[in-house]
Amino acid sequence: MALREIIKKGDEVLGKKCHPVTKFDAKLHRLLDDMAETLRQADGVGLAAPQVGILRQIVLVINKQDQIIELINPEIIATSGEQYGLEGCLSVPGRYGFVKRPMVVRVRAQDRFGNTFEVEDDEITARCFCHEIDHLSGHLFDELCDRTYTVEEIDEMERQAGEKE
Ligand code: NI
Repeated sequence: MALREIIKKGDEVLGKKCHPVTKFDAKLHRLLDDMAETLRQADGVGLAAPQVGILRQIVLVINKQDQIIELINPEIIATSGEQYGLEGCLSVPGRYGFVKRPMVVRVRAQDRFGNTFEVEDDEITARCFCHEIDHLSGHLFDELCDRTYTVEEIDEMERQAGEKE
């Protein structure tokens, strides 16, 4: 396994549409293993292939049980409810914004061997499914919020909210 460089906002590759994966071979498995190592090392909860410069429909999501879910050619097939909360991205370091997402998301995808499966989750993992799958069509979370904040600004907001209580 090897670490891959995480591409940052401003690089045009992040705005491109990804192609479907058609070969479920050793090269794909190597990419998935590298993405897993890169995601763990960066201490994130999700990573999409374009973030490491690969324009293929591949995302990894770490669920609430700390398991990595590999989603190849994923599509969201059902959603319900709503959540509004802070989101960030390894490609937009140090910036966070409030984004509205569904509370529950069901995804159909293929695994690393090409087998189709479905997975459903809620809260942060549902948010992560949406965020990562958006990357595959060239979209970043900050397009969905009015503005982004630094960690210091968020700390200050939370401090002020605490004082009002
Ligand atoms: Ni992201």
